[in-house]
This record gives sequence, C-alpha cells and structure tokens, in this order.
Amino acid sequence: MASYKELPRTAQIRLVSSHQEVYEPCDDSFALVDALLADRNNLLEHHPTLCMEIGCGSGYVITSLALILGQEASGINYIATDINPHAVKVTRETLEAHGVGAELIVTDIASGLEERLTGLVDVMVVNPPYVPTPEDEVGVHGITSSWAGGENGRSVIDRILPVADRLLSEKGWLYMVTLTANNPSEICNQMRKKGYASKIVVQRSTEEESLHIIKFWRDLDKEVNESDQSASGFIGSLFALGPLLSYWRGTTSKQKQQK
Ligand SMILES: C[S@@+](CC[C@H](N)C(=O)[O-])C[C@H]1O[C@@H](n2cnc3c(N)ncnc32)[C@H](O)[C@@H]1O
Repeated sequence: MASYKELPRTAQIRLVSSHQEVYEPCDDSFALVDALLADRNNLLEHHPTLCMEIGCGSGYVITSLALILGQEASGINYIATDINPHAVKVTRETLEAHGVGAELIVTDIASGLEERLTGLVDVMVVNPPYVPTPEDEVGVHGITSSWAGGENGRSVIDRILPVADRLLSEKGWLYMVTLTANNPSEICNQMRKKGYASKIVVQRSTEEESLHIIKFWRDLDKEVNESDQSASGFIGSLFALGPLLSYWRGTTSKQKQQK
C-alpha cells in the first residue's frame, strides 16, 4: 500500500483562493479531481503536452491536475478559461499559492482560442454549470453562471461538447462532470456519434443528486453508426450500475446548498 508520502499532491483547500462571486470547491470539484487521481497512471502514460480546463472557478481542479502531472519539466502546458473574470483572478492566486502556473483566459467556453488550439488539447477537464434552471439564468454575470445550466442542465454542456471535439487532439481525453438530470447516457450517445467511447470513472451520490465523472476518448477502431444499438445498450448498462458504484461524500460548500 502506498505510504502517505507517496500519495500524489492535489490542491490544498487552505491555499485555494476565494471570492464571493466565485464557485468554491465542492463535491463535484472533489469528484472530478478524484477521477483524475484514479486515472493518474493512465494520464502519466498518456504524456499530454497540453491540458485545458473550461470553467476553472477557484482553480482547484487545474491546480490539482498540474500537481498530479507536473509542469514544464515534464513538458506539459496548462490553459484554463472562465466566463467570470473574478474566477480567473482567483485561479491565478490558487495556482501561484501552489507554485504552478497556467495560461488563464476570460472567455465564453473557448471563444477566440479555437484557431490556435484546434486538435492540440490532450486532456480537457470540465465541471460545467449543470443544474437545471430557467434558461434566462444561463450565462448571467457572477456566481449564478457557476451552476445555471438551463433546460435539463444541458445548455452549456451542449455548447461545450462540439468545442471539445474540435480542440481535442487525436489522442485527446475529456473528463466531464454530469448530473443524472443531464441524461448522461444521452450525452455519451451524442459523443459516440462523434466517434468517442466513454466510461464512468467516478460516480458519487448524495440524497439530492448523483454525479458521474465521465471520460471520453476517440474510439478510432469503431465505425460509428446512429443505429448502433449495442453501443447505446452498453452505455445504458453502465449507468444502470450506478447504485453499485456510488457512495456518499459530505457537502461542504454554501454554493452546494443553493444548487
Ligand atoms: C460548477 S463551476 C466549476 C468550477 C471549478 N472548475 C470547480 O470544479 O470547482 C462552473 C464554472 O464554469 C464557469 N462557466 C460557466 N459558463 C461558462 C462559459 N460559458 N464559459 C466559460 N466558463 C463558464 C463558471 O463561471 C464557473 O466558474
């Protein structure tokens, strides 16, 4: 068994900066980092050169990823975006407090970056605003944009998926947080039509919700076909496994209560 000293470092909550208009690390952030830790050996063997986070919030996830994988010495560059300028400032402070760095950009998803980054991102991490809300709450300024996901919580997710498809490299991996209400199996089927395989890396349930951290990668050997019933059946069966895989982790953030 690995000793405490051998465990990979992730961002420390006491060093994560904050602002009243920025999403604090919460169950979903922890589940995403746990998924990266669970997949760490594969990530190290993957030898990414460019890692990207869309919607960096406090910087907890991108900082943890940089600590898990290493930085310039290992030839890895990091880039993170957020639509909320306060989030980018807080992320910069969090990265600096941990002695790591990333290029940070205030933008809507990856607007203005697509020409530069198309086909280059080897690892993308996303904890999107996924809570079902009225459509007019999506994209408003400040903290509301952290969770407001519109109908079925899919408004921002459905805009991120095609961007991820364009930015990911041939070997690119996407790790994304989804909620049961987002219909994750339908998201997997949608990505399958774009040529991606998927699997649940972490599932976590509370009394209120069930989170899935899904990993997507290009399944180059599979011919994709809209009537591929075996693929959708497989994805459906993965989600049916939910209760077997789930466990509870306490809620720590005031934002979570607002969800
Ligand atoms: C659920 S929070 C996740 C924050 C952080 N990644 C974490 O896991 O703790 C979602 C983040 O996405 C950002 N966001 C929402 N809509 C966005 C958009 N269209 N483009 C970029 N970022 C967006 C929010 O400002 C917020 O920081």
